[in-house]
Amino acid sequence: MSHRLRVTEVVAETADAHSLVLTVPPQLAAAFAYQPGQYLTVLVPQDDGSVARCYSLSSSPHTDIDLKITIKRVRDGHASNWICDHVRTGDELELLPPAGEFTPGSLDDDLLLLAGGSGITPMMAIIKSVLADGNGRLTLVYANRDTPSIIFAAELAELVRRHGDRLTVTHWLDSERGAPDPAALAALVVEARAGTPYVCGPEPFVAVAREALRQAGVPEDRVRVERFELEQVTTMDATLEVELDGQTHRLPWTAGKRMLDVVIEAGLNPPFSCRQGHCGACACRLLSGKVEMLNNEILEEEDFAEGYVLACQSVARSENVSITYY
Ligand code: FES
Repeated sequence: MSHRLRVTEVVAETADAHSLVLTVPPQLAAAFAYQPGQYLTVLVPQDDGSVARCYSLSSSPHTDIDLKITIKRVRDGHASNWICDHVRTGDELELLPPAGEFTPGSLDDDLLLLAGGSGITPMMAIIKSVLADGNGRLTLVYANRDTPSIIFAAELAELVRRHGDRLTVTHWLDSERGAPDPAALAALVVEARAGTPYVCGPEPFVAVAREALRQAGVPEDRVRVERFELEQVTTMDATLEVELDGQTHRLPWTAGKRMLDVVIEAGLNPPFSCRQGHCGACACRLLSGKVEMLNNEILEEEDFAEGYVLACQSVARSENVSITYY
């Protein structure tokens, strides 16, 4: 279910990135409890429904009272540009509660964080949480176009000053070294020799970082990835009809919510595993209606031809959607 939260501060982080501070009223505190690394989904109204867009929380539940999301302008990005141009202190935003699996298993783990541009957002939440309430050591490699485009530059410098024994930050600036390349990043990774790898950023950065980790000998299944620039999707409130375990259920489906969450929250027991569009465990067949997937790394053309979709990545694109798990 979506909720309206008030924006209590707008912070200009760089020339093209804003943070919005959101205050959660006491009656919504439980709904908006979160883990470092999770995101909020903002529903931006438009003519034929709303655009759902996910923004990672840069605030930490361990150090911050209010929620903070950071939005960077995207060329032709309706939702991001609408937020940057229109949202002011005192406005209300319609949001879905926190979600996402890009969260450390333990704040005592050592972590290697590879961030590109606005992919720093969930990393900030993780860094602040580990430094405040855990024992893990953190190595951050942070790639940006140039110095003025570094989001949270001063905050990171201050954290290094206070926690230099546990936090190392290496900035990669395209203006000085060119775009990141796998071999050079791999050399940094080998040098750091540190912890579980987390990767977040635009698609080209994620591809380079994954290849760098592969070259550094890190097994693929240890790498945690968050794609920051999820495609923008137009979505709408809908009704979902589900055939599962010999029964048919009709469920209300809020705009922007993922199909798997709708089914789980109705108390049903659908199959799933990664919840990130990697494994295919949540695949079901679309009988009627339209959905759109936010991410898909497993289904291929022949699967689409048979009607398969990933429940963990699907949002509604028509008012009635019918699926089956047979
Ligand atoms: Fe793995 Fe959906 S649960 S792809």
